[in-house]
Amino acid sequence: MERKVISTERFPKLSYTVSGKGYPVILLHGFPLDGKIWDNVVTRISKEYCVIVPDIPGCGSSHFAGEVLSIEDMAKSIKLIADHEKLDKIILAGHSMGGYAALAFAALFPGKLLGIGLVHSFATADSEEKKDQRLKSIELFKKGGREPFIRQMIPTLFSAASRTELTEAIRSITERALLTENKSLIAFYNAMINRPDRTSNLKDSTVPVLWIIGEDDNIAINKNLMQQTSLANVNFVYVYSHCGHMGMIEADEALSNDLMSFAEYCCWRDRTNYVEKG
Ligand code: MLT
Repeated sequence: MERKVISTERFPKLSYTVSGKGYPVILLHGFPLDGKIWDNVVTRISKEYCVIVPDIPGCGSSHFAGEVLSIEDMAKSIKLIADHEKLDKIILAGHSMGGYAALAFAALFPGKLLGIGLVHSFATADSEEKKDQRLKSIELFKKGGREPFIRQMIPTLFSAASRTELTEAIRSITERALLTENKSLIAFYNAMINRPDRTSNLKDSTVPVLWIIGEDDNIAINKNLMQQTSLANVNFVYVYSHCGHMGMIEADEALSNDLMSFAEYCCWRDRTNYVEKG
């Protein structure tokens, strides 16, 4: 695994890892985590693919300039990495907030994709209730509530079974999440509040879409989630039992295998110039 850094005015430090050789698969983490969250998956899939794992600006060791960062900005930071690595087309899979960024990437740079993966993520925008909750959390961050918020939130991302089995992983993820600055937490919540509905991008998608769904997920429980899984022309849908919002930890082997089956199909389409009939 090689760590690389790009520096631009907007992103003074854009850090990512590259592992393995083959078709490029980029894995985006969610809120408020970092690229390390994908380690178990990278170990497995980098035997067959070139796996690139960025820290989204504001997380891990990546930074953004100023106070504001939209979901589209996150997508643009991925485009910078793809260009820097001279990648023609990529498979882009995002976890939760990373999935929102993957959908923004699909809207901005549709010609750069071989496939989109939505890992515990979905295409609809925040409901009014969700926006209110996020605004309250932003007020809490401003009043110094960052640490208790993160300590309380991280365990809720896991299923009840995982919470008892994966105590060490939960502890270490919490410690890393605590490194995320207030400025980033606020920017991410504002970014998620302001993100548009992307269901039309799914309908228009000319590339296959992968869905990873946890039966015990408390976050990606959008009412329309299952309906969204049939919007694109080609969908690979996997539902994991006893899994919450963190399939890359809670079901790392299944997720790696399912991601590789999906990638294999996307790459076969690319090699054969295959186009599904509409
Ligand atoms: C995430 O896991 O990235 C966030 O929980 C997503 C969200 O809050 O919508």
